[in-house]
Amino acid sequence: MTAAGGSDGFPFDLPSVAALADSLSFHPKVTFFVGENGTGKSTILEGLADKWGFSMQSGNRSQSLHSREYQTALAPHLTLSRSPNRPLDGFFLRAESFYNFASELDALENEPFCGTGYFNYGGKSLHQQSHGESFFAVFNHRLGDHGFYILDEPEAALSPSRQLAFLVRLNDLVQDELCQFVIATHSPIIMAYPDAWIYEVSERGIKRVTYEETAHYHLTKRFLDHREHMFAQLFSREEEEEE
Ligand SMILES: Nc1ncnc2c1ncn2[C@@H]1O[C@H](COP(=O)(O)OP(=O)(O)OP(=O)(O)O)[C@@H](O)[C@H]1O
Ligand SMILES: [Mg+2]
Repeated sequence: MTAAGGSDGFPFDLPSVAALADSLSFHPKVTFFVGENGTGKSTILEGLADKWGFSMQSGNRSQSLHSREYQTALAPHLTLSRSPNRPLDGFFLRAESFYNFASELDALENEPFCGTGYFNYGGKSLHQQSHGESFFAVFNHRLGDHGFYILDEPEAALSPSRQLAFLVRLNDLVQDELCQFVIATHSPIIMAYPDAWIYEVSERGIKRVTYEETAHYHLTKRFLDHREHMFAQLFSREEEEEE
């Protein structure tokens, strides 16, 4: 993926988007984007999804790729080079638009001759499931067979044990069904998936790092190993102010 020819202002003033002037390769199985809030991970994923033809609202691929207009400023400037293995399916899942997606699915189920009994979604409306359950219904039933999937913070709905279950399903999808994933995450559990590349996004641009080099790993490890000490540091000013 490469971005060229963007104008001034958002999103081209983000260092991470500027860094796309040099091409960025994706791992054939899983590529993670990690980094601080506001560094541009969602902006890049949305541009990529838009370029690919995924709807920003529903997550599915548009049927009319040739006539559709881009929904992000970044997409028209992106060039994607694809591997010889063309994906057969695709989906863009982001926490913010998941509610709209569930509503669109309900509307479709109520159309004459369109209902499938939520066949691809665990057999019932996503609105009748908890946040984590509905996410898992999509992940377990909707994805598969040579798909290309973009996920923005999939951990938002998931408990730590469900995040491990997510990794098991992710592993099945990439190993057995030859799926490819691009995932933005803050979860130190999810980004630990071993057969993956990690891009750390920051105000300095985009850098490929190992799991142990990520700020998320360092901070989480330090917190779990030295919680009391960290709290003593973090709260020390507040206590002085209270005295
Ligand atoms: N439509 C917009 N117009 C102007 N600035 C925007 C717009 N959307 C996002 N931004 C800004 O661009 C920056 C990157 O936002 P983005 O949502 O891509 O960050 P992120 O890395 O996904 O953060 P987070 O980890 O919090 O999800 C932020 O500073 C944000 O305020
Ligand atoms: Mg984001």
